[in-house]
Amino acid sequence: MNLLITGAAGFIGSNFVRMVLDAHPNDTVVNLDALTYAGNLDSLSDVSDNPRYTFVRGDVADRTLVDGVMSEHRITGVINFAAESHVDRSILEPEVFVTTNVLGTQTLLAAAPAHDVTRFCQVSNDEVYGSLGPEGLFREDTPLAPNSPYSAAKAAADLLCRAYFKTFDFPVVVTRCSNNYGPYQFPEKLIPLMIINALDEVPLPVYGDGRNVRDWIYVEDHCRAVDLVFREGAAGEVYNIGGNCERENIEIVRRILALVEKPEGLIRFVKDRPGHDRRYAMDTTKLATELDWSPTVDCDEGLQRTVAWHREHRPWWRKVLTGEYREMYDRIYGGK
Ligand code: NAD
Ligand code: TYD
Repeated sequence: MNLLITGAAGFIGSNFVRMVLDAHPNDTVVNLDALTYAGNLDSLSDVSDNPRYTFVRGDVADRTLVDGVMSEHRITGVINFAAESHVDRSILEPEVFVTTNVLGTQTLLAAAPAHDVTRFCQVSNDEVYGSLGPEGLFREDTPLAPNSPYSAAKAAADLLCRAYFKTFDFPVVVTRCSNNYGPYQFPEKLIPLMIINALDEVPLPVYGDGRNVRDWIYVEDHCRAVDLVFREGAAGEVYNIGGNCERENIEIVRRILALVEKPEGLIRFVKDRPGHDRRYAMDTTKLATELDWSPTVDCDEGLQRTVAWHREHRPWWRKVLTGEYREMYDRIYGGK
């Protein structure tokens, strides 16, 4: 297939491109990415010379550009990772979340049927379901109830995909995954931020009481699942993806400090995030039974690998910790 993979200079997309080029020797890949603060071509330096890989810089909400890329590269499949992806930024600057996550997805959906596209995968997430109490799991038929501007925009995009299947019979599949971690994640998200702060021996800011629960999945397991759903999932269907690893934030932070061999005295409890979802947890029975998928990397193994990766890739993350990062860090944590 000739794939258009959007947002592939980001965390999950870059891991996905590497996996696809390895796993599918007949596929070609076009990475369409605007290179926002979160996009980093260093994450794909090892594939940049691969003749089956092309990078195009641009905005997924630019219809002329999207039409040009789809026709020039005879795109037959689209996997849409491009998004603004950080909840805290969406609280400070919600507009761009609507432009990229909603209008960007709409633009891709509107353009694709006019070309040779026969498969479209929207990479959505568990946050579209809202928040759980201490019990229960999100299922694919759980009503959507997003609470942050980020998750509301992701939910809108997710539902546009449903609408394009129901109204236009366009073969869309949607994946909803839990919290990813692993190599090349921008250090604004919990795990890389805590690893880097621990390595640098600066305070680790934990929101609220630290007892919010997330389900953590190693990024390579997520990429395998997206690839499987993209190729073999039933058109119009939604598939939950999860790591089977529910942890309180404070447990994750303590484990990171132990792996980095730094004291728990570095932990700082700071003012809670507004609208902070208490718990996410996924029922992944559908993916397991219909497509025979399960995660392969358990949480402890994944955290060890991720800490080791950060120890070995200091130049990658040092370069990221520059002006824009510092400015946003102060806006998010300054008053706490
Ligand atoms: P990321 O922030 O690391 O990467 C996003 C990428 O999209 C960046 O390379 C950025 O430059 C690009 N981008 C942003 N706006 C764009 C635009 N207008 N046009 C083209 N490119 C643009 O995000 P990530 O963590 O890799 O997440 C990728 C996708 O997976 C997102 O859609 C996210 O909602 C979804 N997802 C993420 C997680 C997670 O835990 N990180 C979990 C489930 C689903
Ligand atoms: P995050 O990685 O931003 O992912 P999401 O909000 O999309 O789940 O945050 C994961 C959890 O960690 C969430 O409960 C918020 C919390 N958190 C902190 O306690 N401190 C931090 O500095 C960050 C970034 C997150």
